[in-house]
Amino acid sequence: MRLQLGPGSESVVEPLRDSITAALSALDGVESVSVSVTTPQASASSSGLRMAGQTPSAAAAGGADPGLLPGVKHVIAVASGKGGVGKSTVAVNLAVSLARSGRRVGLLDADIYGPSIPLMMGVDERPRLDESGNRLIPFERHGVRMMSLGFLVEKDSAVIWRGPMVMKALDQLLRDVVWGELDVLVVDMPPGTGDAQLTMSQRVQLAGAVIVTTPQDVALADAVKGVAMFRKVDVPLLGLVENMSYFACPGCGERSDIFGHGGGKDAARRLGIPFLGEVPLHPAIRDSGDRGEPVAAAQPEGPQGQAFNRVAHEVWNSLDGDGGSVFDRFRKKFGR
Ligand SMILES: Nc1ncnc2c1ncn2[C@@H]1O[C@H](COP(=O)(O)OP(=O)(O)O)[C@@H](O)[C@H]1O
Ligand SMILES: [Mg+2]
Repeated sequence: MRLQLGPGSESVVEPLRDSITAALSALDGVESVSVSVTTPQASASSSGLRMAGQTPSAAAAGGADPGLLPGVKHVIAVASGKGGVGKSTVAVNLAVSLARSGRRVGLLDADIYGPSIPLMMGVDERPRLDESGNRLIPFERHGVRMMSLGFLVEKDSAVIWRGPMVMKALDQLLRDVVWGELDVLVVDMPPGTGDAQLTMSQRVQLAGAVIVTTPQDVALADAVKGVAMFRKVDVPLLGLVENMSYFACPGCGERSDIFGHGGGKDAARRLGIPFLGEVPLHPAIRDSGDRGEPVAAAQPEGPQGQAFNRVAHEVWNSLDGDGGSVFDRFRKKFGR
């Protein structure tokens, strides 16, 4: 649905959108509702919601809200076409590695349907509110500030949420958390190419996306879909990380390429995006994640920690230190 309001009606945009969304969502057979409200001053949707079928380009729609995350230099999305490829593992260890190298880092769990940051970062508490009573104070662990919907809702209760609720929840995690000054905010995205991806790319000026994949062909095909989605919404692709790239035997230390070798690198080349590195399949990575002590914090100098450090280094290098434009980064990278 699309509404055009007259001049001076800005203050009613949000309540109007909310009540229309609520009323339509309550109808039988309605799966998802998108209400785009425009006023003459702001021709784009101030709610960040958009009709299905419109070209979802944040820049074109003006949906990115420059007032969101004012102290954050770079927001990067860690994404994958499908679940279980180690997206959260990469997001968490990337955040910890970046923090250990002296950056001010935040970690936002945008995987509304399956938040795993609380477990992986070892926090099982309710967040506190700031003095205003309106905003949540992020937790700080392993040098990383973090927030997850997992801290706020009962386990598994978000699984049945519809699109507009997902968007609203994400919007609040961006707006109503005291993120403060950060060099990088790492966002752990849910798998796939749905509402959450759209919301993030519309609401926030993303510095780029890191695509996580595993070497199997199926996962790579999913990575291709993820890449295509970010291209469509004009989000720069920082590159591809191949997780569970090879098996590192915990006993003898020997490496075996159980899925063949070089698939991720080839895929990155075919897709025309940088290859950010490979992470081995190793029990220490899973164990440390389950214990809330990411391997990048528990064994930063070990081979697994180093694998994440290399990825973090590549990711940081692909960002412009001052939060410059894509064009600046291109010039920096290619010397033009
Ligand atoms: N490189 C790895 N080595 C061993 N286990 C891993 C590795 N990467 C991920 N895992 C494990 O695989 C499972 C899925 O990873 P997760 O990061 O939750 O995936 P996603 O976020 O993509 O769904 C978790 O139990 C995690 O500990
Ligand atoms: Mg996950």
